[in-house]
Amino acid sequence: MTYRIGVIAGDGIGPEVVAQGLKALRASGVEFETVDYDLGARRYLETGDVLPDETLADMRTLDAILLGAVGDPRVPPGILERDLLLRMRFELDLYVNLRPVKLPEGVATPLADKGPEDIDLVVVRENSEGLYSGVGGVQAKGTAREVATQESLNTRAGVDRVLEFAFELAERRPRKKLTLCHKTNVLVHAGGLWARAFADMGENFPDVEREYVHVDAACLYLVTQPERFDVIVTDNMFGDILTDIGAGIAGGMGLAASGNLNPPRRSPSLFEPIHGSAPDIAGKGWANPVACILSVAMMLDHVGEAEAARRVEEAALRALTKLRATAGAEMGFTTDEIGDMVAEAI
Ligand code: IPM
Ligand code: MG
Repeated sequence: MTYRIGVIAGDGIGPEVVAQGLKALRASGVEFETVDYDLGARRYLETGDVLPDETLADMRTLDAILLGAVGDPRVPPGILERDLLLRMRFELDLYVNLRPVKLPEGVATPLADKGPEDIDLVVVRENSEGLYSGVGGVQAKGTAREVATQESLNTRAGVDRVLEFAFELAERRPRKKLTLCHKTNVLVHAGGLWARAFADMGENFPDVEREYVHVDAACLYLVTQPERFDVIVTDNMFGDILTDIGAGIAGGMGLAASGNLNPPRRSPSLFEPIHGSAPDIAGKGWANPVACILSVAMMLDHVGEAEAARRVEEAALRALTKLRATAGAEMGFTTDEIGDMVAEAI
C-alpha cells in the first residue's frame, strides 16, 4: 500500500519542520507519495488565493494531510485562519481535534514537583461547531453604535459524535476516565445540551468513569493537579484555550502535536504541530521539529500503521532527551540535526 499524503508546508518555520517530519516518515519504511500544496501567506500575498475550490476537491482523494504552519504578519488576521485552516476543518468534516498533553521523560515542565507520571492526558476538542462556526455579525461597524454578535452553535448530533469518540478513547486507556469541561453554570443553553448528551452517552460506556469540571476550574487544575485528568472532552473554544495550557505544562509548543480527525474516514484527516509559523525565528534552525514529527506519528497511527507510528514516536522522544531546551537557539542542535537524529533512531 502506498499512501498519498498531502503536504502543506506553509510559511515561516512550517517548511523547516515539515522537511523533518517527512524525513521521519521516509525512515519509517512506510510507502508513501506526497502531493504538495502551495497554500498559506506567501501564496495569498502573491495571488490573493487562499484555498481554491479545486484544491479542496483534490484533497478529498488523499489518505492524510500534513501541515507545517501558515501565517505572516503582512496578512490581516482572520483570512488564513478562517478561509484556510477552519475551512479545511469544516469542509473535510474533521470534527475531532485530538491533542495529547503528555510530558516526555527527560523534559522539564514549569510545574514544580510534577513529572511525566502526573502529566499524561489527551484533550478531545470539538472541531466543527461552537464559537468557531462563524455565526453572528456586525452592524454599524466603526461607529459608536457598533453591535457585534458571535454565537456558539451546538448541535446534538455534533456533540454526540465527538462524545462518542472521547468515550471510546477513554475506554481504551488504562485509567478509563473522561472529564467534560464546559461552563454549564453560565452557558446554560449550550452547556445543558453538552451535559445531557454526556450523561446519555455515558450509559453506553459503563466502564468509563465520568467527571464534570467547569472550564475555569479546569485551567486551574491543569497547573495545580494535572494528574486528575485522563481524557478531557470539550467544545471548540474551550479546547483551543485548554490545549495551549496543555502545551505549556507538557514541554512547550516545540513538542505539541495534533490531529484533526474525521473518525469514520470519509475524508482525509489533517495532522499539524499546534505551533504557528514563528516568522521571527524562520530560517535560523531554531524550530523544534519534534511537534511535527509527533504529528507524523499520529498520522501513521490514524492510517493504520500503528507499529511505524510507535517507532517514530519513540525515536522523537529519545531525541528530546538530548536537547538542552525544547525550542530556540538553546536546543543545542539545529532543526535539521534533530530531524537527522530522529530519522537515524527510527
Ligand atoms: C489552534 C489555533 C487555531 C485555532 C487558529 C490558528 C485558527 O489556535 O489550532 O489551536 O484557533 O483553532
Ligand atoms: Mg490554538
